[in-house]
Amino acid sequence: MKIIKLDSSVYNKISAGEVVERPSSVVKELVENAIDAGATAVEISLVNAGLDEIKVLDNGSGIDEEDLKTAFLPHATSKIRSAEDLNEINTLGFRGEALPSIASVSMVEMRSKTQASEMGHFLKLRAGSVTEEGVTAMNRGTEITVSNLFFNTPARLKFLKTPSGELSEVKACVMKLIFANPRVAFRLSDEKGLIYSSDGKGLGEAIKGIFSEDIWQNLLPLDFEKSGIHVTGYASRSTFFKMNRTYQISVINGRVSENQSITSAISTVYQQYLMKRNYPVTVLNITIAPSELDVNVHPTKAEVRFSDGNKVFSAVYHAIKNAVEKDIEERKILFDTLQDDAEQVVERIPPITAEQDSFTASNHLIFDSAPRKEIPSFDFFTSHTEEMHEESEITRSVKEHLKKKYSFSESEVQQEMQETASLYRVIGQVFGTYLLLEYNEKFIIVDQHAAVERLRYDKLLAAYEKGAISVQPLLIPHVLEVTPSEYAIVENKIDALRSLGIELVPFGADSFKLQSVPDILSDMDVSALIKYILSDRAESEDTIIRERLAYAACRSSIKGNTYLTDDQIAELMNVYFKQGLPVQCPHGRPAYYVYTKRDLEKLFKRIV
Ligand SMILES: Nc1ncnc2c1ncn2[C@@H]1O[C@H](COP(=O)(O)OP(=O)(O)OP(=O)(O)O)[C@@H](O)[C@H]1O
Ligand SMILES: [Mg+2]
Repeated sequence: MKIIKLDSSVYNKISAGEVVERPSSVVKELVENAIDAGATAVEISLVNAGLDEIKVLDNGSGIDEEDLKTAFLPHATSKIRSAEDLNEINTLGFRGEALPSIASVSMVEMRSKTQASEMGHFLKLRAGSVTEEGVTAMNRGTEITVSNLFFNTPARLKFLKTPSGELSEVKACVMKLIFANPRVAFRLSDEKGLIYSSDGKGLGEAIKGIFSEDIWQNLLPLDFEKSGIHVTGYASRSTFFKMNRTYQISVINGRVSENQSITSAISTVYQQYLMKRNYPVTVLNITIAPSELDVNVHPTKAEVRFSDGNKVFSAVYHAIKNAVEKDIEERKILFDTLQDDAEQVVERIPPITAEQDSFTASNHLIFDSAPRKEIPSFDFFTSHTEEMHEESEITRSVKEHLKKKYSFSESEVQQEMQETASLYRVIGQVFGTYLLLEYNEKFIIVDQHAAVERLRYDKLLAAYEKGAISVQPLLIPHVLEVTPSEYAIVENKIDALRSLGIELVPFGADSFKLQSVPDILSDMDVSALIKYILSDRAESEDTIIRERLAYAACRSSIKGNTYLTDDQIAELMNVYFKQGLPVQCPHGRPAYYVYTKRDLEKLFKRIV
């Protein structure tokens, strides 16, 4: 068949197929045009979820009369001039395709007025051809009405969802546009009334207006800059999550976009706090030099590429991690340390009497005031009962401290310890699993397993991150055979794997020799593990190690359903005393609940 150049009405329809998928894509393109025109207020109204009509009104610059028609020509844009401009895009649009694409599959009316012009002008188009034009009275800005979307492409209509399905697409899209432009006032409404509004007073206000109060209460503010990348916005607490990713919004240089480096940075931070298929809420606003960003990846510009994805990963990772860790530290129940209180306590306590002394010896105190040499103790990190012949490390270190700092005698130290211990009280244990404590006018229920497991995990992780994991050389090196494409992957990952304690060296053309593995992996089929790391299914090798650490922490920590003696509870309290009561276990389950007196009074309807 002869080759011909397609008519513009044909290729506009083709590119409409890429850019205009459904009402929400029309809304996105029109709102982005309004933002590019410098609008500070944008009003979106829908009829039948936008299937019948979408109207977008803005107070931006407007379009000159002579440009009105040009705007609907393919590849007509006011935003770039040359190919070089593609390297530094500062506007949302630049392809000059949206309006001709939308117009080719609908009926459009565009009304616009610039500051300089006395009157506004309008243009009506049907399937891309102008049907009417004229003069109209209006304020500065542009109003564009798109009706009967896909009226001339019945195949497209069939792929649309129900009106309520399309409406939720539009809502999701507008929500993101609002978060991307928090200084612009928005209104979204349909024939039933107002759906969203935001007053343009900043991101916090926009989020409060759109997300539920519950979400807002669980968001942490972010502000972090690293190697020219500035990350601001909000990320949820380690204990808060949703069941899908719709609450993860990333705005890059003002554009709502997705990017793999960002998504994986988010999941890397939260993997140690949330269970699988639980997703945090994140609204990230990332700014980066436009030259480091390629937005011209896809016609809808929904995805961007960075010239250095690792830099972006690192900036996002640290921005969120810092905020989340700070929050966890703040929420950890830190039992008052002796060091801080020592001076005041000394002044308060009267000399101890013999009677008191015998009382405290049998009391459920945190510190072992009586000699404990014969009492079998419990190592909570191993869940095996072991003979313990010495007082706990914390008790000893605090005693040392007191002796040194205040030149206390042994008996003064004893008094001091008892006084501080009585700042909180162990009520007991229920169901062999939960410890009940009273501390600082609060009633605390601790999951004994979750709390210890977390502390254990943090320790293992810290050792691992410092590179202090112990590695076992294999007596008989294991030979790992790989395919040519796997060979390349292994070569790439050799350094990363070595830092995890997995040492591989090339061995012939199609295999590697495995020389050592970290202790925590030694009971696994390591070659299967490496095959898994090489497969597409694998999360990063780091994730695998973390999971192993969590598993190791879980196995070696005191279990639920284990009845403890008072001494064992006291010993466990020493652990919390020293390290703080963690917020949650490595799998994301909560480690404690706190009730105030007021909470209980409410429960018993003493107050309302
Ligand atoms: N609301 C508006 N206010 C002012 N000018 C507008 C508005 N909408 C469109 N225009 C003008 O019409 C031109 C064409 O718009 P269109 O959306 O088709 O292309 P673009 O925004 O330049 O690129 P892209 O296809 O990437 O969106 C724009 O470059 C702009 O000059
Ligand atoms: Mg545009």
